[in-house]
Amino acid sequence: LGHASFSIEAHGKTLIVDPYITDNELAKNIDINKLEADYILITHAHGDHILDVEAIASRTGAKVISNFEIVNHYGAKGIDGHPMNHGGTWNFEFGKLHMVNAIHTSSFPDGSYGGNPAGFVLETAHHKVYIAGDTALTYDMKLIPEVIGELDLAILPIGDNFTMGIDSAIVASDFIECNRIIGCHYDTFGYIKIDHKEAISKFSYQRKELILLEIGKNLKI
Ligand code: NI
Ligand code: MN
Repeated sequence: LGHASFSIEAHGKTLIVDPYITDNELAKNIDINKLEADYILITHAHGDHILDVEAIASRTGAKVISNFEIVNHYGAKGIDGHPMNHGGTWNFEFGKLHMVNAIHTSSFPDGSYGGNPAGFVLETAHHKVYIAGDTALTYDMKLIPEVIGELDLAILPIGDNFTMGIDSAIVASDFIECNRIIGCHYDTFGYIKIDHKEAISKFSYQRKELILLEIGKNLKI
């Protein structure tokens, strides 16, 4: 859905990750009023990850899954949620969700406390997908294949400046032992514009696949 937002279908349920759509020029073809959602996963409280949470949640009745502080924030606005924290795992109807570490910050746009930033590993009956959230490269990533198991796909930020860039994302792909990567958090603002061809060729030089999914396009795992 553009920037770091994804719509993920698992076991008949739809999860929207970090909706930032209505202010994103590149995502102007996405109509948030047509998006289905049973759950909204929020990695951290920055504006470019939460902008459309309230609109989508109030229309669809989707439940917010995030850290304790962010779930409380939306709970006070009457939005239902499931709080988690780092290291925790919960069995949802769409599969298991693990909340994992991310190195970043997480204040709300008004400066209020948004807890600590996180990533998620979504574990369905047959697949495991790592959604890194905004993060730097961190040794903690090595724990994912060790503790949770082999990943089928990982969504990593690659835009640099606010998160990892391409070169760190390639090392991250080694740490998580996953060579199939969807890039996110690039091109949306001036600070994070990337050269697509160069990014893809850097990954392929390391025998890794970097997918730069066109906004609105799908991929089946
Ligand atoms: Ni952020
Ligand atoms: Mn961000």
